[in-house]
This record gives sequence, C-alpha cells and structure tokens, in this order.
Amino acid sequence: MTTYQFPAGFWWGSAASGPQTEGRLPGDGKGDSIWDQWYQESPERFFNQVGPEKTSQFLTKYQEDIQLMKATGHTSFRTSIQWSRLIPEGTGEVNQQAVTFYNKVIDELLANDIEPFINLFHFDMPMALQAKGGWLNRETVDAYVEFAKTCFELFGDRVTKWFTHNEPIVPVEGGYLYDFHYPNHINMKEAVQVGYHENLASAKAIKVYHSLGLAGEIGIILNLTPSYPRDPENEADVKAANYADLFFNRSFLDPAIKGEFPVGLIEVIKELEMMPQIEEGDLETIKENTIDLLGINYYQPRRIKAKESAVDHSNGPLPDDYFDNYEMPGRKMNPYRGWEIYEKGVYDILTNVRENYGNIRCYISENGMGVEGEEQYIDENGAIQDDYRIEFVKDHLKFVHQAIQEGSNVQGYHMWTCMDNWSWMNAYKNRYGFIAVDLEQDGKRTIKKSGHWYKAVSDANGFND
Ligand code: NOJ
Repeated sequence: MTTYQFPAGFWWGSAASGPQTEGRLPGDGKGDSIWDQWYQESPERFFNQVGPEKTSQFLTKYQEDIQLMKATGHTSFRTSIQWSRLIPEGTGEVNQQAVTFYNKVIDELLANDIEPFINLFHFDMPMALQAKGGWLNRETVDAYVEFAKTCFELFGDRVTKWFTHNEPIVPVEGGYLYDFHYPNHINMKEAVQVGYHENLASAKAIKVYHSLGLAGEIGIILNLTPSYPRDPENEADVKAANYADLFFNRSFLDPAIKGEFPVGLIEVIKELEMMPQIEEGDLETIKENTIDLLGINYYQPRRIKAKESAVDHSNGPLPDDYFDNYEMPGRKMNPYRGWEIYEKGVYDILTNVRENYGNIRCYISENGMGVEGEEQYIDENGAIQDDYRIEFVKDHLKFVHQAIQEGSNVQGYHMWTCMDNWSWMNAYKNRYGFIAVDLEQDGKRTIKKSGHWYKAVSDANGFND
C-alpha cells in the first residue's frame, strides 16, 4: 500500500460555471447570452432539447449546494460570474439583483470555509455584443475589460483567486472551426482574430487587476491536451503533433505565461495570410501582463499522425490540414463519453509546465468523467455507486502527486464538477458530478459514493492505495 499525501493547504474542490448551473428566473434581470439565443433558434441541437434556463438551479439552491460542498470535503470551489447576468447588455448598466446574488454566494462560501475561485468568461458572450461580432469585434475587448473591472471592484475585497477565461480555445474551435458553439461560422481567419482578441482581453484584464492593488492573484484556465505522435521516431508524425500543440495549447499557454505567441504558430498564420489585426501597443500589453497562477483542465490527450487523409478545403483552411488524429490501438476509453482516459497525461502537462514554463504556480482546475445513464448505478438506498469515478480521480491524483514529488508547483485539484450540470449541447446527457441532480424531482440532490470518498480524501489531505 502506498500513501499519497499532498502538501499542506492543498485545495480540494470542484469547478462549475454560471451558465451551466444558475438557471434563469422571470424578472431576474439577466440578459440573453449566445446560449439563450442559440437555444431559441435551434432547440433541436441540444440533447433532449434541454436548454440553458433549465440548469441545476444554483440561483435558488446555492445555500443547499454550498452545504453539500462542505459535506463532500470542498475547501475551494470555482464558478463564473455570468457577464449577461451582471451587465445584461454587455456594456452599461449593472443588474443589482446579480450583484446581490453573487455577493451572497461569495459570502456563503467564505462563511463555510470554502475559498471562492471566480472566473470571468466561460463561453457566455452577451447576445447584445455577439450581435456586433462578439470576440471578432475589438470593441468587445474593451467591454470585457469594463466587465472585469466591475467584478474586481464589486467582489475583489473577498475573492482572491480570479481567472480571466475558461478554455479560451473552445469559443475559437466551437464558434469558428468546428460548429459546436454559436455563431457556428466556420472561418479560420475569423478564428485567429477571435483567439487574438481573447488573449489581448486577458492581458488587459490582468493589467487592470494588478493596478487596483487588491490582495489576490489572477490567472487563466486552459484545457491542455498533450499531443502524442503516433511514432515518436517518425519526423512527420512528430511535426504533425507539434502543429496540434501550437494550435490548441501554445496559442494561449505561451502568451499567458511568456507574454508572446510561439514563433512556429506565427509562421503558419503568416503563411496562410491570416494574421489578425494587431494595434500599436497590443503586443507590449500582452508581454507585460502575464498570469500569476495557471489553471489546468485535463480530460484527454490528442493522438496525432502525419496528414494521410485528403485535405478538404470546402470550408477553407483548418488546423486539421496539418495533422490527422490517430486512433491508437488498445487505448483506454471512457465507454460512455468516447474520450480516451490517459492518466499520465496530467503528469506530462505538469512536467512540461515545470520544465518549459518557469514552473509557474498551478492547479488542476478541471478533470473528470462524464457518464451517460448513471441511473443504472443507483443502489437500493438511492445512492449512486460510481466506483469508476473514484478510480478515475484517484488514478489522476497519483500522477499529480508524482509531479509534486518531482518539484511541480501544484497547489490543488478541482474535479469537474460538484452537482451534475448542464453541459452545453449535451445538456444533461453526461453526468459529471459528485452529487446527482434529479431533474424529474425539482433538481433533488444526492451525494454519490465518489462525493463521500472525496470528503475522506480532503480530510486526510491524501489517500492510501
Ligand atoms: C470543460 C468546460 O470548462 C466545461 O464547461 C464543460 O462542461 C466540461 N469541460 C465537460 O465537458
């Protein structure tokens, strides 16, 4: 038996987001985000046609939920402030009901000794700004910085952990490359501009945060997907994997930590004649305003081989022109979600951050396992026997532990997620929580076996296995 003991003060928590948990009530003052709009336009694209207003009702159940967080050992919890709730039109008037709500959530977390981690942008562009181009439009960068400043001023006296974006590559991929986020407009040149503006907005928000002299820190949350070549000895495979890494990881990782875009990425974008519009002073802003703390979301790696399939230019150039995905024989899969499970990936990311990114302070900001049809694991007492989730978390934690032993600066672990929540187009198809939410019974909550297990791990600051 081995003991996996974590450093004192290690954060044990989970992550969620405003749009996936809060829900919407008549008269709550929230404006539409792109998700409200998209659901109104195309409800059939959402699993079982369940839209964003029917989330797990954190808006009304936050006190109960925070007690459940305590019962499952949380010492920290991440959620996001919905831009369209706080500033319904994206700019201008602040919704006072939202201020009251977020104040109550923050105070309730603190009163229960749970450290609030607050993220600012979690895929939820206010519709009023999307109508003018969203992240494509430079005015959105200024509007976002105003939103960020409002949040820091309203809540920064109590919130000390801030994040500018969650997975900023996802709006790029979903909205402008692969058709799974509004506005579903496939165009790589636009994708590049969107990604550039997100990077710029992050740096500008960091600058404002640091100028306010608040006692806290600010970072970004990135979904890092280690890209493994089919054959590490094959130059073409390695080159292809390197492209995937540049597009999907380093396009945000390098500017966030090093303050600059990777040379290899700029070369490709130049070659494609897709350089974004950059204004004077932007690159200096990005250079000078890097993060204090990195959040790492890890779910699955990419397996890459040199391009073998024909290049399809019907939608114009795409990153996929540079590599093919490779279905590695024998890889372990999550049978419910179709995603690979590769626990060592988290160790490889942490090693990369330690060796190539100055060993910046970081934490695992998301990791988790989505399961379809979880009702089948309910026992006679109504509890969900989700041993697969316990194994998943434990196996990843072992690799986090190993990285810490080798010197990685990892400060905590957040599972995705606390309560089962609304997962965008997949709605409630895949359940990820430590706590089940029964949509048929007004969102009734039940702690799963994994939630009880997590409490024990948090109390002991580790586990034996
Ligand atoms: C990452 C995202 O941050 C979150 O919004 C999403 O629901 C989970 N992954 C699960 O897919």
